[in-house]
Amino acid sequence: MSETSPKLRAELEGIPTYKPGRPAAAGGPVAYKLSSNENPYPPLPGVMEAVASAASSFNRYPDMACTSLMEELAERFAVPVSHLATGTGSVGVAQQLLQATSGPGDEVIYAWRSFEAYPIITRISGATAVQVPLTPGDVHDLDAMAEAITERTRLIFVCNPNNPTGTAVRRAELTRFLDRVPRDVLVVIDEAYREFIRDPEVPDGVEFYRDRPNVCVLRTFSKAYGLAGLRIGFAIAHEPVAAALRKTAVPFGVSQVAQDAAIASLRAEDELIGRVGSLVCERNRVMEALRAQGWEVPESQANFVWLRLGERTTAFAQACEQAGVVVRPFPGEGVRVTVGEAEANDIFLKVTGAFHREP
Ligand SMILES: Cc1ncc(COP(=O)(O)O)c(C=O)c1O
Repeated sequence: MSETSPKLRAELEGIPTYKPGRPAAAGGPVAYKLSSNENPYPPLPGVMEAVASAASSFNRYPDMACTSLMEELAERFAVPVSHLATGTGSVGVAQQLLQATSGPGDEVIYAWRSFEAYPIITRISGATAVQVPLTPGDVHDLDAMAEAITERTRLIFVCNPNNPTGTAVRRAELTRFLDRVPRDVLVVIDEAYREFIRDPEVPDGVEFYRDRPNVCVLRTFSKAYGLAGLRIGFAIAHEPVAAALRKTAVPFGVSQVAQDAAIASLRAEDELIGRVGSLVCERNRVMEALRAQGWEVPESQANFVWLRLGERTTAFAQACEQAGVVVRPFPGEGVRVTVGEAEANDIFLKVTGAFHREP
């Protein structure tokens, strides 16, 4: 038999596989997973009912146009249905945006460090990634990003708030940046954590979409709405972009279970947003406690906090695991720690208290 393997695209060489946050080890001391920015609350009973009901007909394909959900979203955001597109999580929609805009020879700009899917999906598209370092305060350097635009730039991600630092850019700086971006370059404002923002100066990306046809806003049901496992996210964008997203979608990618759960979640929004409020209180408690312990923590507007630990990152993640929480280390840089149940956050704060005092 020949050793020859099928020819694969050269672009795939060296692309890292997406690394999910590790789960708590079965049978080990670890009880809490704070490594994937998930919502710690279990599904609401009403959402479970919608899921069970949709599950009873999964011998059928889902509604490919997500008609009912689109109508709900259109009303909620006061946008035409033709300006909406859904996908298998917002990361699925982000990948469709790359397929729709970028290929070999094109450039995609994003901050770094930011959401780790950006380099992966950019390289899969064949385009060149242009990574612009965050400022020393771990915030997007929008001036540097504007300066990085060339004739080849096709797409720019602005992750607001940024994963993994939790930092957010404000209205004035985002406006100034968007004013500098040529109208034929797509700016994707990734708002996966939008509902956790409390700084009134951090704008809702939808404000910018309204009069800027080159702005696309990404939202997800995975975080605040707690549907991470069902894989459903959406984009709000003007018609040419939304239409391109419909073309690049995997047919029937969004299951009926996910669609119906999303609708039930929108209808149970008061309760879900109440849970988000509790998580925001916990986030603020964690940030204050860390600062009281002497840590420098960037202001998080998301459901996680960032500790820039440099070379001590791996040792810190191990200490957390021994104490009972799994966090997300980025070796040599820092750890991202999801705000979870109060007990889990307390364990994390115990580790930070002890760890900081070590040399
Ligand atoms: C900034 C950002 N965008 C998008 C996503 C993708 O979320 P999903 O594909 O579950 O909608 C994540 C998930 O962690 C994220 O952090």
